[in-house]
Amino acid sequence: MIKADAERAAPCAGLRIGDVAPDFSARSTTGDVRLSDYRGRWLILFSHPADFTPVCTTEFVALAQAASEFEQRDCALMALSVDSLFSHFAWLRLIRDRYDIEVRFPIVEDPTLVIGRAYGMVAPNDSDSATVRTTFFIDPQGVIRAMTCYPANVGRSTPEMLRTLDALQAVDGGPVLAPANWALGEALLAQPDASLDTVFSAKGQADWFMKETKRGSRK
Ligand code: BEZ
Repeated sequence: MIKADAERAAPCAGLRIGDVAPDFSARSTTGDVRLSDYRGRWLILFSHPADFTPVCTTEFVALAQAASEFEQRDCALMALSVDSLFSHFAWLRLIRDRYDIEVRFPIVEDPTLVIGRAYGMVAPNDSDSATVRTTFFIDPQGVIRAMTCYPANVGRSTPEMLRTLDALQAVDGGPVLAPANWALGEALLAQPDASLDTVFSAKGQADWFMKETKRGSRK
């Protein structure tokens, strides 16, 4: 569990791709949640600076509108901020009334930022103790497979979150690679076979390291 470690951790504690996502349990808008209960499916854990702020509101509306897209990819969403559970409830009610969309994924309350600090979600030099827009893509084994960090004044792209998830899922069976701007259904690249025989026997100059392979599809 996070607690003991997190109390020692500096802001932006160095979680890396390949690390097991630190476990925690917390109160959320859908009841108590424990990160390890999500083993067996993909999870996007993301922080936002504050409830009742303009950019965050657009992000939550966009994510709630795309809920079925994440569901199709067997990926759960979990949000987190320093705000209290009752603030989350009031904000979700406002979003429902104003934008006609219900945010049904859990929003965790992290009033002491014990989780936010353990995940490096708190900007180290920020006078404001709020989380920045950090996003962790966690695989069904609980391993961090990708992460992004945006500032408070720039909202994330839901299509890019879905594309990243598609790419992570497509390369999962290996040994294939997702090229720049790859989208579902497009060709993946083969993992280069690094041997001198392959290099010398390749027809074209780049053929030994640049080869298209099967089209990525949803599993
Ligand atoms: C926003 O979500 O609009 C926001 C949050 C914190 C600081 C600045 C903007």
